[in-house]
Amino acid sequence: MPLVSMRQLLDEAAKGGYGVGAFNVNDMEQIQAIMEAAKQTNSPVIIQASRGARQFAQDKFLFHLILAANELYPEIPIAMHQDHGNSFETCKSAIELGYTSVMMDGSLKEDGKTPSTFEENVEVTRRVVEFAHPRGVTVEGEIGVLGGVEDGHGAGGSGLDHITDPDQAVEFAERTGVDALAIAIGTSHGAYKFTKKPDGSVLKMDVLIAIHKRLPHTHLVMHGSSSVPKDLQDIINQYGGKLKETWGVPVEEIQLGIRNGVRKVNVDTDNRLAITGAIRKVLWTQPEKFDPRDYMKPAREAMQKVVAQRMTEFGQAGHAGDYKPIPITEIAKGYADGSLATRPLVAAK
Ligand code: 13P
Repeated sequence: MPLVSMRQLLDEAAKGGYGVGAFNVNDMEQIQAIMEAAKQTNSPVIIQASRGARQFAQDKFLFHLILAANELYPEIPIAMHQDHGNSFETCKSAIELGYTSVMMDGSLKEDGKTPSTFEENVEVTRRVVEFAHPRGVTVEGEIGVLGGVEDGHGAGGSGLDHITDPDQAVEFAERTGVDALAIAIGTSHGAYKFTKKPDGSVLKMDVLIAIHKRLPHTHLVMHGSSSVPKDLQDIINQYGGKLKETWGVPVEEIQLGIRNGVRKVNVDTDNRLAITGAIRKVLWTQPEKFDPRDYMKPAREAMQKVVAQRMTEFGQAGHAGDYKPIPITEIAKGYADGSLATRPLVAAK
């Protein structure tokens, strides 16, 4: 099966009322962990690579690993997504490589740090949509600014600094035609999201619900959605690590989001924690080991366990075979004839 349009995966998720985890990768073992988890749970998959990941692995290595995954797991629909594209050129290069989805994060300027203006964001995102849609490629935009930094990308600060304004979200979706929209509701990238256990009032779910009501056809995306589980933190610290006490986004909050229009859920940190904990454990308890397979195998298994759990919790488990993937050339026709337009219901305020 060829790589699948992310738009199709998310449209199907909307029909089924579930969310799809979008897991970041840098290397072969992470891709293998995701694919084994998908096979185990019979889940459709979104694999995403940041600019940092593309640089680390080199484009060709990373993309050919995805093609290998696609060949080895023909029963699993896979969408390949550029996470946090910082410019038109970054998105264009991903599309030219064969990615079936790109995020144009125009909420920040090209340096990936400084918040941009609304008009700048609309302008660059619309340009990416105009390039991507005729090629059948999905576009995710971002409005509002997430907290924290990931792979050198991010404004830093707390997730509560730049919460999305629902009016701006509607105008942004209308003027850009994005398929999916990342909104800022108080989450942030990385391990240090909250300094105490967040209760139900920490995330701005009312903002999310208001946006979904007015943009029912634009799939909402929750970034910074790692739950930073205490058991994964403890393994790292038990075997010589020095993580400070921290809390992530409770899975119940993500599930509440999924009941209110969240279709793509970004998770990276939890997998990093799982991998690092497993490697530390081997090196700490068996210091005589030096074959990388002795620690990479448990690391891969630890990530598979986290991914399979999230796939089950987000509801995508069991849905890999529900639908026939549409070639992206057909998806391109849907954009051209207007059948895939995501028109906001501005009236339903
Ligand atoms: P976490 O750091 O919470 O895993 O978020 C990852 C993310 O949003 C990638 O875009």
